[in-house]
Amino acid sequence: MQISFAPARNAASGASWVVAAYDGGALSAAASRADKAAGGALTRALKVSRFKAKPGEMLEVLAPAGVPASRIILVGLGKPEALDAKGLEVIGAKIVARLHQLGETDAVLEVETQTGKSGGKVKTPMAAAHLAFGARLRAYRFEHYRTRNLEEYEKRLANLVMVTSDVAAAKKNYAALSAVADGVVLARDLVNEPPNILYPAEFARRVKALSKSGLKVEVLGEAEMKKMGFGALLGVGQGSMRESQLVVMQWNGLPKNKKTQPIAFVGKGVCFDSGGLSLKPGAAMMGMKGDMGGAAAVTGTMLVLATRKARVHAVGVIGLVENMPDGGAIRPDDVLKSLSGQMIEVLNTDAEGRLVLADALTYTQRRFKPKFVIDLATLTGAIVQALGFEHAGVFSNDDKLTDNLVQAGRETGERVWRLPLDPAYDKMIRSKIADVKNIGGANSGSITAAQFLNRFIDDGMAWAHLDIAGVAWQDGEQRPMIPSWGTGWGVHLLNRLVRDNYE
Ligand code: BES
Ligand code: MN
Ligand code: ZN
Repeated sequence: MQISFAPARNAASGASWVVAAYDGGALSAAASRADKAAGGALTRALKVSRFKAKPGEMLEVLAPAGVPASRIILVGLGKPEALDAKGLEVIGAKIVARLHQLGETDAVLEVETQTGKSGGKVKTPMAAAHLAFGARLRAYRFEHYRTRNLEEYEKRLANLVMVTSDVAAAKKNYAALSAVADGVVLARDLVNEPPNILYPAEFARRVKALSKSGLKVEVLGEAEMKKMGFGALLGVGQGSMRESQLVVMQWNGLPKNKKTQPIAFVGKGVCFDSGGLSLKPGAAMMGMKGDMGGAAAVTGTMLVLATRKARVHAVGVIGLVENMPDGGAIRPDDVLKSLSGQMIEVLNTDAEGRLVLADALTYTQRRFKPKFVIDLATLTGAIVQALGFEHAGVFSNDDKLTDNLVQAGRETGERVWRLPLDPAYDKMIRSKIADVKNIGGANSGSITAAQFLNRFIDDGMAWAHLDIAGVAWQDGEQRPMIPSWGTGWGVHLLNRLVRDNYE
């Protein structure tokens, strides 16, 4: 879908013409113009419908003869003073959803917000950018593998024109949001790809291809990791035909002559989690192609930072493996030597994410000495039990970092909820023969997983762990801005965290 900005509607186009109404049904200036052009069709339609102009509510009339449009859609903005950027994004998404349903290919949005004394804070050029952002995320599709009945899938919105009084301002506002959308789309694509296509080396190749955006990308293979001592990460991958990889991304938007301490993101990239020899039952194995959602979020975030040339020094490290059972696989009862030197007793090969993260975290801290490190991982089913699909869990040793994450979550809608880290849980991961074991007990599974990771965090290092098992993908009802299984969760959040606190 092509999104453009224009100062006025091209009256010769036959596109859907979308105009706004405010709470109760009051017409905006553009809506009044459309109504007049259509001989009062909107006013009449308002009278005979239930439309109340609630946010995202829509009323459509086919354009009568003489009006150069296919149809006029009245979209509700609700109460002007209650309308914010996030609300506009959802409205933009809902408009696209409706246009898709209608089979429309072209649309012009002439949506003005009311600002000032009794109005909201989002001026029309900014509003156009946020509407476009929501529209873009909603227009996302992942249908590369459909080969039949394409008419059913191919009819889609091709052109979306945003009419705004200040094209330059709208474009500028949209540029930053568009970079975020690019990152979200990348993360969704990675999560949606099937695991026979997106295995560790292929994931690494796709990251490598991002070099043209300005990211510096390095890939370590098994031979290099073995030499360096990545015993935990390599242990997880050893039952797979696919080679494990560690990918390091760097973006430095600060003056290069100064030595700067980066911020760091680490992602769990289990391209498929069968459970290994502690095999998952069939139903639980479905969807485990998405077990690299943390790595996808880190990759998407790094792309956003590079694309919008963020004034920050950031590194992203992702551990890419496939967790499979075969004759060479690790066994429950095996002991692995991690990169940190700590010995880990593996009692369940399905608790593999923490093994991958352990080495990725050690590597990141040793090499980069970051200001802080945030890891993202689809780590535990228990976090889904605790928080469902609306929040990711955050575990952190740093209150400020946590507050910043919570705040960025509120702003972006990618919300996080803090759960405890506490040495009192450590007895649950005590091993009979090694330094630590990789499972806790029947209870508090997300916390014992976080306590395990904590063993690999250096003294004094600010750290936050996001357990995103409930939010990296979605089954069932779609959210307005998330039309696919892979959500791209985390990209918007981390970008916002950086933008608001570390630039
Ligand atoms: N990738 C899973 C966690 C997961 C479960 C993500 C469901 C999304 C949905 C992880 O590797 C795992 O298998 N965790 C185990 C840990 C247990 C064996 C201690 C779990 O949560 O059951
Ligand atoms: Mn697992
Ligand atoms: Zn897993």
